[in-house]
Amino acid sequence: MKKIKVKKFGILTSGGDAPGLNAAIRGVCRAAITQYGMKIMGIHNGYRGLVEGDAEELHVNNFSGILTRGGTILGTSRDKPLKNPVKDPKTGLLPLEAIKANIKKWDLDALVVLGGNGTNTTASLLAKEGVNIIGLPKTIDNDIVHTDITFGFHTALEVATEAVDRIHTTAHSHNRVMLIEVMGHKAGWLALYSGVAGGADVILIPEIPYNIKSVAKEVKRRSDEGKQFSIIVVAEGALSKEEALLSKKELKSKREAMTYSIAYRVARELKSLTQLESRVTVLGYLQRGGTPSPYDRVLATQFGVAAADFLAKGKFGKLVAIQNGQIVGVPLEDIADKIKKIPNDDPLLITGRSLGINFGD
Ligand code: F6P
Repeated sequence: MKKIKVKKFGILTSGGDAPGLNAAIRGVCRAAITQYGMKIMGIHNGYRGLVEGDAEELHVNNFSGILTRGGTILGTSRDKPLKNPVKDPKTGLLPLEAIKANIKKWDLDALVVLGGNGTNTTASLLAKEGVNIIGLPKTIDNDIVHTDITFGFHTALEVATEAVDRIHTTAHSHNRVMLIEVMGHKAGWLALYSGVAGGADVILIPEIPYNIKSVAKEVKRRSDEGKQFSIIVVAEGALSKEEALLSKKELKSKREAMTYSIAYRVARELKSLTQLESRVTVLGYLQRGGTPSPYDRVLATQFGVAAADFLAKGKFGKLVAIQNGQIVGVPLEDIADKIKKIPNDDPLLITGRSLGINFGD
């Protein structure tokens, strides 16, 4: 392959926002400008802007004061332009054709995309189409394979843990069973870490389908021992043993028909089995917003600066990842369509079990 020197690149953020996105944008762009004299187009609203041609040229002053800011200065969307592509009625172009035309129009030698599994799956498809592309691992869910951690996770963990801590005091005062629902549809990293950090009695995660009788037994055991309250951390994607037997499609339609989130169902089931009073708190988007933690700022900055080095070295088609403290480049095709779930032998899961935390099984 002909080695190209990157003079100008485009950058976009895609998927759910996460603390540290701006720190990563700043890292990539400052290093690209100061170390390599590159020019930059900031593409708006994720892949949507790439298809629609919505972008602006960015300069050093665009990155002032954004290190500590939550969200993303570029905007984001969940658009996946290469999945079920349709022609634009106005231009007659397929999304891939529009993307290639915009890359040419803006005179870009490469793209840097900051996002989670969906974003990097699209990036892998674009790499196959000959686009020079580099991915960065962002998500509060920490569920990207081949990287020890993603930026955004640490901040969300702090938010979730603080919530568990605050709810603990009310649980104790009122002798209630308190359920805290955290994000994580397919992987339970946030639930596992915040549950262990916050001293939860029960943690329910998508990887371990729960038996409500086991959870009720644990809550009852504590109450019989005189501990009238329990803390239960529930990942939004937690599912029962019966639901685990359903097909993906059946589960999806069952969940879509639910007008309440999973923690409410668990609370109702527990009430009928234990008669104990319970309350639910759904943390939702609080976990994604706000100032990134110092750890996430540092991590996102490291990833960003490494991405600029990857651009300069022509290391395309890679996800910038961290493994055992070292920044590495992982082929995007190894990331595509995969989710890092909590394995049965995960050290923190084992630690939790040794502590006597109930995982619903
Ligand atoms: O970014 C990942 C995530 O935070 C998931 O944990 C959550 O299920 C999802 O985003 C919801 O995001 P949205 O409502 O923005 O699509």
